[in-house]
Amino acid sequence: MSTLRGVCLLWQVALMVATGSKLWEVPTSSTNLNESLPGGPHCHYRQDGVRITAEIPPKLDGTWLSTRCEVRPGPEFLIRSYTFHPTRHFQALQHYYSDSGCEDPAYSLLIQGKLRLRQASWITRGATEANHHLSKVAIVIHSLGAKHKLVSRLPASCVGPTLGRLVVGKPHDLHNTRAGRGCLAAMGFSMIEMAVVRVETQHRNHGGEIQDLFLGDIQTDWTQRTHYRPTGYQQPLQSAMHHIHPCPVCALVYRSTEQYPPVLPHRPQVPISLAGCWVSQRCETRPNVLFLTREFHFDPDEHAWEGIYHHYSDPFCSQSTFTLRASGHYAQGNPSVKVPGATEFVFKVTEVRVTADEEPTAKLLNGTKTGKCGRAGAWQVGVEQDLSPTHGCTVLGIKLPHKEYELFKVELDHRKHPLLYVGERPKDGSTPDRPSKRATSFQPPMMLCSHRETQPSSRHSSGLNSKQVQVDTSGTGRLTQILLVVLGSALCSWIWVF
Ligand SMILES: *[C@@H]1O[C@H](CO)[C@@H](O)[C@H](O)[C@H]1NC(C)=O
Repeated sequence: MSTLRGVCLLWQVALMVATGSKLWEVPTSSTNLNESLPGGPHCHYRQDGVRITAEIPPKLDGTWLSTRCEVRPGPEFLIRSYTFHPTRHFQALQHYYSDSGCEDPAYSLLIQGKLRLRQASWITRGATEANHHLSKVAIVIHSLGAKHKLVSRLPASCVGPTLGRLVVGKPHDLHNTRAGRGCLAAMGFSMIEMAVVRVETQHRNHGGEIQDLFLGDIQTDWTQRTHYRPTGYQQPLQSAMHHIHPCPVCALVYRSTEQYPPVLPHRPQVPISLAGCWVSQRCETRPNVLFLTREFHFDPDEHAWEGIYHHYSDPFCSQSTFTLRASGHYAQGNPSVKVPGATEFVFKVTEVRVTADEEPTAKLLNGTKTGKCGRAGAWQVGVEQDLSPTHGCTVLGIKLPHKEYELFKVELDHRKHPLLYVGERPKDGSTPDRPSKRATSFQPPMMLCSHRETQPSSRHSSGLNSKQVQVDTSGTGRLTQILLVVLGSALCSWIWVF
């Protein structure tokens, strides 16, 4: 495994060198695309009348809010409210809770600092890289119970001189003493999420805009947490000015302070029912430059499932690279003890089919050794290959059959429509092939397909915008090189499944 990753890394470095510094210029300054997520004939999601743009560099001024109780690996349950000022100063509030519904506040962190936007990221296309500098991190503990719980999991070196003296409801500086910073490290605290920034604006036909702020993703391995450099995103924060209506949570979060954390109203648990078809709500980004949309079908009577993964080379999911169809069986397990409200599952993948959607992918797969990845020499654009005869595909990191220990959760959105949360993938590219590696946080939620929305799969060709065409025509083969970089990292990071 580490050899493969070494090769992948070399490949990326080599391609970086080959493509040269011009790559900095590649990410477009503003891109429009009709959002159009492709899907099969039975499951199709398309939000007509929505145009998405993303400016590089993004405009961050204003306040950005969590729209629901968020889950981070651990698990940690939190709500965020970040304010950016035109002076580049920011103030970030993070409220932590002892429960998965964010009803029982444990402590809040008040974080102040400065953010400097740098260049467009070539690792995560569509993102802007940023440096941050912290000037203050203060903690306010909200109950004695929360204090004892926090203190019990932190080293004595920080507790004695620092947390031991905490008074409920009073801010206490953790940044400006060594013991305090030791506490922050032990708490897994880091603002490295600010290393990659992206703002997406959804322009709705009926008028109105919705703005989402994407910040870097959080390492799933706690021990690596503060060293991890994000290349994917967390669930976005929404602009306090331009958010989806109604958002009762937004109002609560907007009014909160470090001393008065939001307390979310109790929500009844939604019983988990997977039956039917689920589809991504937007173009998703995975660490190491993988843009994809997902589509799952579950048949509870047969305990059967199918997952379709459409991969793309761009952050608007408009340029298809390859499609993967996986299927097998699943079994529902117990309610999760670690993440209340979620349920454990075991998935077995018995079949995987891959279609190369463009020439470079077809060529790459075509060049694999006989017996390693489908029928060598038979890969063609648009022609699906079954990987079962070769028990998977080495270059794609797929081994068949394969078992995964999963964590699922169903929640209702603001329209009371169900959303399916599937466990976050381990950030080291491994798979949750043991119960101990089961996720404690989630990937972006998927929405239930409605059969009323059923329609033949079609893509907006009119969506391709001038900026992307510009990339195509301006650089002698540069697009191909970019695609190779993207594909290289996509393939390298593609290691199983969901
Ligand atoms: C795949 O390999 C075969 C045999 O080497 C060759 O005939 C074919 O043109 C290749 N296809 C692609 C898409 O490269």
